Order: sequence, then structure tokens, then C-alpha cells
Amino acid sequence: MNDTAASSLTPSTPKRTLLVTGGAGFIGSWFVRYILENEPQTSIVNLDLLTYAGNLDNLSSIEGHPRYEFIHGDITDKALVRSLMNRVDICVNIAAQTHVDRSIDGPDVFISTNVVGTQTLLEAARLAGIQKFIQVSTDEVYGSLGSTGAFTETSPLDPSSPYSASKTSADLLVMSYFKTYGLPVCITRCSNNYGPYQYPEKLIPRFVLNAMAGKQLPVYGDGLNVRDWIHVSDHNRALALVMNQGQPGEIYNIGANNEQSNLSITKCILQTLDKPESLITFVEDRLGHDRRYAIDSNKIQTQLGWQPTVNFDQGLEETILWYGKNPEWVRRLEQRLARETQTVAARSSK
Ligand SMILES: NC(=O)c1ccc[n+]([C@@H]2O[C@H](COP(=O)([O-])OP(=O)(O)OC[C@H]3O[C@@H](n4cnc5c(N)ncnc54)[C@H](O)[C@@H]3O)[C@@H](O)[C@H]2O)c1
Repeated sequence: MNDTAASSLTPSTPKRTLLVTGGAGFIGSWFVRYILENEPQTSIVNLDLLTYAGNLDNLSSIEGHPRYEFIHGDITDKALVRSLMNRVDICVNIAAQTHVDRSIDGPDVFISTNVVGTQTLLEAARLAGIQKFIQVSTDEVYGSLGSTGAFTETSPLDPSSPYSASKTSADLLVMSYFKTYGLPVCITRCSNNYGPYQYPEKLIPRFVLNAMAGKQLPVYGDGLNVRDWIHVSDHNRALALVMNQGQPGEIYNIGANNEQSNLSITKCILQTLDKPESLITFVEDRLGHDRRYAIDSNKIQTQLGWQPTVNFDQGLEETILWYGKNPEWVRRLEQRLARETQTVAARSSK
């Protein structure tokens, strides 16, 4: 089977509309661009709240596209979500609060967006009778591994952080809508993504920008926590494939079989940018920090024919260099951040 989702659609495939949530974020913006480029009969309605992580600059290349519509709104807004769901065929839920550290500092918004927001979408999807609901989840629902083994789709759910617990809760709700109401759902659980356009609170973009500015790179604990890294473009091809060919009620793990410690990625960033390792500072470990993740993606490979294609060393180098080659994207983001910090400071001084 060919793993290009677009090639699974023939010219006679009927026109259809997707509701993509969180399409202004890192993965969502890649997904929106990928679908518009590869599926000429598919239109997209992108519902995004534009939180601190949502960035319309990620979508500047498709501004004014005839098959694209942006709606500024919240996935917890029942009336809005119901009206949108009535005019789409498929929902791909990518919106979420996504940063583990923020979930430790303030879990409330993780419950409202990731749990209540998902249930709001599910209920609207059920009432509208849409064709498919794709829930973009994470390998973090499985918790932490010892030094061997990998998570399969049947591994026990054992989340550690408020973020991963909220994603796990959402997954359980999604599956309940399949079992109870027969809503045709699929869940994807992907490992850590890297690539251009990632918001610089996550490890790679944050360390790249710090290193470029000659600032310290704060590495948690001993730096030996391991994640299974995948290029965001490989994740998006898998998402499109699950959307087009995934079986209702099924969960698909997505990973590139590429385990790396935080420390080795940090050293690679410094080496690529020709910066000294003395910029590394080891800081107190994150609370409840999972030690190791590894994903077994045999199911999506054998059942849907997907394969990761991006070589990690090359993908990482291109990603590191992308931030340097796109100073305007970085500058506008930093200006926005500074404005937001000022607004918060002004509010708290009232
Ligand atoms: N980044 C990763 O490594 C990774 C790995 C596996 C799974 N995931 C999952 O993929 C999804 C996207 O992750 P990301 O890294 O692109 O996140 P991101 O933080 O870059 O983007 C999240 C997007 O969701 C939007 N959003 C947040 N709350 C919303 C709300 N209430 N209503 C509407 N929009 C809202 C934000 O404005 C933003 O555009 C998440 O569900 C995450 O759990 C991420």
C-alpha cells in the first residue's frame, strides 16, 4: 500500500470539508498546509483560539487560499462548535494546551481545553453525524518506560503530568463516543515532534534561540531523559493517512524509532551552531519527569503502509538552521511575547 495519503484519493473523490482545530499551532499549521497542497478536493475550516502558542505567521503562505477559512474561537464554545460541525464532513482535533511545564504550574486550562474542549467537539460531531473524528493524542498517555521496550497501542495508560492526564482523559472520552454512539473515531498517539515553526518553549527551538543569542541552555536533571523524535512532516503524513484510511475505533501509534537523550540533542544544537558546551547548565529536574519514551509504530506501518522518511541528523540540522534563516518569524514572535508580558504586568499592577 502506498503511504502517501493524498494518493489514496482519486480525482472522483467527492469534495469535502475538514474542521481542523488548533491549525495555527506547530503541528496544526503543518497539517493545514499539507492537506491544501496534497488534497485538491478538500477544504479546511481552521478553528483556533490563538493562545500564546497559536501563530498566524505559521500560515502566511496560504493566506487567501480559496479552500481555506480561519475562525478565531474556542473549542469549548458549544454554540460555535455546533454551527461549524454542521458544515463539515470530518473533524481533526489538534487543538490543545501542550506544554508539560505549564500544566504543572496551572492545570485548570489543560482540563478545560483538552478534556472539556474535546468532549464539546465530540458531542457536536455526534449530533451532526460527521463521517470521521480524528483525535491527535500523544505517547505521553502511556507514562514512562524503563531502559527497554516500547509502547504499543495496548500498553496501559499511565500518565504522569496534568498535561498527559488531560490527554488520556480525552482519549477515553473519544473511545466512549465510539463504543456508546458509534461515532467513527480514530486516535493517533505520536512521539516528540521537531521541525520549523515550533513555539520556542519546547526543547529544540528554545535551545536553538538561546544558543544563537549566546544564552545558557538549561537542561533538566542529568539530561539523560530519552524521547523518541519524529519530524513533524512524517507525523502529518501519518495523520492524513489515518484520516483517509484508518479504521473507526482504532488507535495508531506514530514514531520514527529514533530515541535521543535531551543532552545529546542539546550538544548537537551547540555543535551545529558552533557554540561551546559551556552554555549547558544542568537545572533541577522537572516534577514527575518521565525517564524514557519509545513508540512501537508497527501497526500503522503494516496496516496502513506508513513509514517515516526524514533522516534525523539531516532533519535536525535543517530545523536548527531554519530558525537562523527566518529571523522575521522569530522577531515577530518575540515582539508578541514582549507585548503579552507587558499586558500581564500592567494587569497585575492595577
Ligand atoms: N508537539 C509534540 O511533540 C506533540 C507530540 C505528540 C502529540 N502532540 C499533540 O499534537 C497537538 C498539537 O501540538 P502542538 O505541539 O502543535 O501544539 P501547539 O501548542 O503548538 O499548538 C496548539 C494550538 O491549539 C490552539 N488552541 C489551544 N487552546 C485552544 C482552544 N481552547 N480552542 C481552540 N484552539 C486552541 C492554540 O492557539 C495553538 O494554535 C496537541 O494535541 C498535542 O497534544 C504534540
